[in-house]
Amino acid sequence: MGPVLLTLGLAVLTWVFVVGDLVRRHRPAWHWYLVGYPATACRVVFTWGKVAQLNDLAVAKRPPRGLLGDLVVKGDPLRPVAPRISFPRATRTGLTMVVRLHAGQTPATFLKAADALMHAWKVHAVRVTSPERGIVLLTATATDPLQRPGLASAPAELLSALIGVLESGGAWVMNLRLVPHWLIVGATRSGKSTLLARLITQLASQPVALVGIDCKGGMELGLFARRLSALATCRREAVAVLSALVVDMQDRMSACRAAGVRSIWELSDKARPVPVVVIVDEIAELYLSDGTRESKAEAEQCSTLLLRIGQLGAALGLHLVVAGQRVGSDLGPGVTALRAQLGGRICHRVNDPGTAEMTLGDLNKDAVAVAQSITAEERGVAVCTGPDGGWSRARSHLTPTDEAVTTSRKYAATTPELPAIGRALAGLEGDAK
Ligand SMILES: Nc1ncnc2c1ncn2[C@@H]1O[C@H](COP(=O)(O)OP(=O)(O)OP(=O)(O)O)[C@@H](O)[C@H]1O
Ligand SMILES: [Mg+2]
Repeated sequence: MGPVLLTLGLAVLTWVFVVGDLVRRHRPAWHWYLVGYPATACRVVFTWGKVAQLNDLAVAKRPPRGLLGDLVVKGDPLRPVAPRISFPRATRTGLTMVVRLHAGQTPATFLKAADALMHAWKVHAVRVTSPERGIVLLTATATDPLQRPGLASAPAELLSALIGVLESGGAWVMNLRLVPHWLIVGATRSGKSTLLARLITQLASQPVALVGIDCKGGMELGLFARRLSALATCRREAVAVLSALVVDMQDRMSACRAAGVRSIWELSDKARPVPVVVIVDEIAELYLSDGTRESKAEAEQCSTLLLRIGQLGAALGLHLVVAGQRVGSDLGPGVTALRAQLGGRICHRVNDPGTAEMTLGDLNKDAVAVAQSITAEERGVAVCTGPDGGWSRARSHLTPTDEAVTTSRKYAATTPELPAIGRALAGLEGDAK
C-alpha cells in the first residue's frame, strides 16, 4: 500500500507543479488570483504590525513621558499601535489596502515607507495615495505589468492616440485636444523615435496634417514620408517649414478674429482649417550651432519660431511634439522657454538626473525618482504625465518598420495638402540650384 500511495502522492505533486507553471505562464491573472494573491494577502496581514512599527507608522496612545515621583521621565513609548488596515482586496495586477490614519499622521510618512512595504510584501511596487482626508490607499502591483504589456483599448477621438499601456493596465493615451504640446525625453536607444512612430501610426487615419522635422537626415520620420504633409531633413528646411507654419498660424488667427471666435474648434466644420501636428525628432539638431554666424542665426530662428507656435498654436490647431536627448539650457536660452510651453511630458531612461529633473521635476518629485530607476533593458518604458496633473509609468507599443511603411502607404491618399509649406520647401530647392 505504502509505495502505491507514495507514487500517487508524487504524481499529484508533479501534476500540481506542472499545471501551476503552465497557468503562471499562460494565464498570469488566474495564477495571481489562485496562488499569488492569497500568499501576499497573508504576508500583508501578518507583517503589518511589525512593518508599521519599524517604519514609524505606529503611534503610541500614551505620550512618551511619564511621572516617576516628582520627576518627568522621557523615553520610547511602550507598545505603539499600528494604524488600522483593511483586509487586502485583490485587483487584476495586485492588491489594495485602505489605512485609517491616526490623528496627527500624514500620508508623507507612508510615502517614505513605500520601499520598505514593497520589500516586506515581496511585490513589484507600492504606491501611496490619499483619496480622502484621514485615509491612505496603498496600491501594490505584484509584478511589473510593463514587462509583457498587452494593448489596452481606448475610444478613437480626433487628435488622440493610443500610445501603449500604463502600469495600472489602462490605456496610455496622448490626447492633443486636452494637452496640446508634448516633450519627449530620453537617452539614446531609450524609445523616443519608437514613440513618435506609434503616434504617427495612430494619427495617420485621422484628418490631421503631420509635419515632420527630422534633422538626423530624415531616417526615422522618412518612413512616413507619404503620409507627411511636409518633411524637413535639415535645419535650413526646418526654418522654411516653421516660418510657413507661423504665417499659416497668423492666417488662422485672422479667420478666428473675423468669425468672432477664440479657437478654430468654434468655427463651423467647413470653415475650420485642418489641425497640424509638428513632430520634431531630436531638438538638439535645431538648437546647437557650430559657431558660424549663419548657423547661429538659423538656430535662433528655429528657437523663435517653435516658441511662437508653442505660445499661440494650441487654440489655432497647431500642435508640437518635440523629442530630444537633453532639454537643458546648454542648447541655448530658447529651450527653457519652449520647455515651459510643452505641457505634456514623457521621460524615458535618462543618463543624468538633471534631465529627468528638467522634464518632470516641475511637476512631481516622485515621478523624477521613478524615471531615474528605468533601466537600459526597459526600452520604451517611460514616465508620462496625464491630463489631470497625475503621472504614471508606462510602455509604448513597438511599431515595426514594415507596419510604419504599410500605414503610411495606406493613408497616403488622405494626406492633407499644406501648399504654403510646399512652396517654402520648393523655394529652397530652387535657391540650391
Ligand atoms: N516600446 C518598446 N517596446 C519594445 N522595444 C522598444 C520599445 N521602444 C523602443 N524599443 C527598442 O529600442 C530600440 C531603440 O529605440 P528608439 O530608436 O526609439 O530610441 P531613441 O530614443 O529614438 O534613440 P536615439 O536617441 O538614438 O534616436 C528600438 O529599435 C526598439 O528595438
Ligand atoms: Mg531616435
